Amino acid sequence: MGKAGEGLEDIVAGESAISSVDGQVGKLLYRGYDIRDLAEHSGFEEVCHLLWRGELPARKELDELRLHLRQEMALPPGVLDVLARMARRAEPMDALRTSVSALSTFDPPPTQTTRDANYPLALRLVARTPSIVAAYHRLRNGLEPVSPTPGLSLAENFLRMLNDKPPGPRTSRAMDVALVLHADHEFNASTFTARVIASTLADMYSATTGALGALKGPLHGGANTAVMQSLKEIHGVSDVEPWVKGQLGQKKKIFGFGHRVYKTMDPRAVVLKKLSQEVAREVGDTRWFDVSAKMEQVVLKEKQLNPNVDFYSASLYHVMGFPDDLFTPIFAVSRMSGWTAHILEQYGDNRLIRPRAEYTGPAERKYPARPA
Ligand SMILES: CC(C)(COP(=O)(O)OP(=O)(O)OC[C@H]1O[C@@H](n2cnc3c(N)ncnc32)[C@H](O)[C@@H]1OP(=O)(O)O)[C@@H](O)C(=O)NCCC(=O)NCCS
Repeated sequence: MGKAGEGLEDIVAGESAISSVDGQVGKLLYRGYDIRDLAEHSGFEEVCHLLWRGELPARKELDELRLHLRQEMALPPGVLDVLARMARRAEPMDALRTSVSALSTFDPPPTQTTRDANYPLALRLVARTPSIVAAYHRLRNGLEPVSPTPGLSLAENFLRMLNDKPPGPRTSRAMDVALVLHADHEFNASTFTARVIASTLADMYSATTGALGALKGPLHGGANTAVMQSLKEIHGVSDVEPWVKGQLGQKKKIFGFGHRVYKTMDPRAVVLKKLSQEVAREVGDTRWFDVSAKMEQVVLKEKQLNPNVDFYSASLYHVMGFPDDLFTPIFAVSRMSGWTAHILEQYGDNRLIRPRAEYTGPAERKYPARPA
């Protein structure tokens, strides 16, 4: 345990009306709506509207938003060139970060950092993130990128652009639910990074590029890929207990467990656990879910830690057929909505975010005489 306030633990660093987390009971609300209800009744596009605009969309507003998102999905040829040059050399998360940064050259941001001027850019970034992830995955496998298809939702289009075949309804629904659950989470590390950058009145591309860098780390969004690596090291359910004890004995962290805010099970993990089990049964491969469920029991017993959002998303994405290194970019496909909502909120009522540090270095001293 660190000192009080270390890592900004429990520090309220600003106001936000976008999402709220109750770590004691394990609740996450987007604009007052419980994510369990949103996961059951809403799609990702509705959630984007909710995060950006504050209310669930009326039918007509949702249709318009869907249409706009689809119109913005196609990538500028310059970005496809950048992706092609990186193919096979870059990790997908690095390719995504570089491409979002590169988008600013091919499609410059508005000159004003106001909410209204930047709303269209928020929409464009959410529309283009799945296209970048899918295009890069295809290019690195020597395949041509697939253009977005009119009439499909963002989740369906992402799967279609990745695999070049129409996704089944169950896979599409699982993707959509995962996107809903990952969309926003108060002042998490990447969102806070985005807000710090936006508070300097830098443009939205800069703020989201920084957020992508923060998301990549294994203590944040990179944990879902690390979870899959752990699951692959474990040979079966009977190997879980010795593996966990071995890791803890070496003072290693178990990825996908623990949380800065939740003192109980992360509510997103509750929904993802159910989804992971359902999809595993459907595809007839429950091994990853079974090992995960056993791990949940053992880590709770041995270390009193609960799974977080990244734990059951790993077994879910694996049985959905995604390669491990796309797990974190998929997180970003969703979280781009939350980042952009927070950047708009920051622009709407901005003050530079600039905290102080407690200095622990040497006291003032005389500059030494040194040989010329
Ligand atoms: C999420 C996380 C970074 C929160 O960190 P934090 O609030 O700074 O908490 P700390 O890392 O200081 O952990 C507090 C204590 O719990 C332990 N702990 C926390 N998470 C742990 C984990 N996943 N495995 C093993 N021990 C863990 C720490 O070792 C520490 O123990 P100590 O007091 O004996 O030193 C942390 O739980 C973690 O690293 N989890 C694994 C990575 C992960 O899944 N990240 C995704 C988060 S959504």
